[in-house]
Amino acid sequence: MRATHRFDPQHMGRLVSPERRKMLDPVKALDCLELRPGMVLVDLGAGPGFFTLDAARRVAPDGKVLAIDISQEMLDLCVQRAAGEGIKNVVPVLASTGSRGYPVAPASVDAVLMAMVLHEADSPARMLSEVRRMLKPGGAVLLAEWKKEESAMGPPLEHRLSPREATEGFGAAGFIRSNDGCEVGPHHYALRFDLPR
Ligand SMILES: C[S@@+](CC[C@H](N)C(=O)[O-])C[C@H]1O[C@@H](n2cnc3c(N)ncnc32)[C@H](O)[C@@H]1O
Repeated sequence: MRATHRFDPQHMGRLVSPERRKMLDPVKALDCLELRPGMVLVDLGAGPGFFTLDAARRVAPDGKVLAIDISQEMLDLCVQRAAGEGIKNVVPVLASTGSRGYPVAPASVDAVLMAMVLHEADSPARMLSEVRRMLKPGGAVLLAEWKKEESAMGPPLEHRLSPREATEGFGAAGFIRSNDGCEVGPHHYALRFDLPR
């Protein structure tokens, strides 16, 4: 599995635009994760919070979303948008790109959302091993990525991950693929993976 193509934070407004919501349905994606009140979710590579805010409403009032990102600008917009909507259970977590790992305790989260972030990872295998470390046994991951086919938007084809490549990577990290995919829009796919109990 190879990846690495960084989204330019200068264009972060695109990630929360009404046009994007028409192309990629965050509600259907989150349905796939079966979030419930009280859960702790990591939104890995949360960006300006396209998925984060909807997820935070689903796990409220006692659950929370750890919005992890390596970009302070992205997190600032995420926090600002959450505050603007009166959402209080989003916790921003600034991470480094190095090998130090994410500042999240082992086996402490119920679910992880990875939307359009795996193809940006310097080391997808290291990212997945971190996701495994932070998840409780039986925890779930939803991976959302661009389909590996030509489209007017999105990362170059050679940086996209096919469902087969992603499934191999998750399998190597100890996950079990638990569905054939959730329909989230014409240009993206979403797959759920679970950790054994
Ligand atoms: C294309 S954006 C997607 C944002 C959001 N998930 C969405 O779909 O709207 C990718 C995000 O992942 C973040 N990112 C890239 N590499 C990362 C890493 N190793 N760990 C955490 N976040 C990362 C980027 O800063 C960016 O905000």
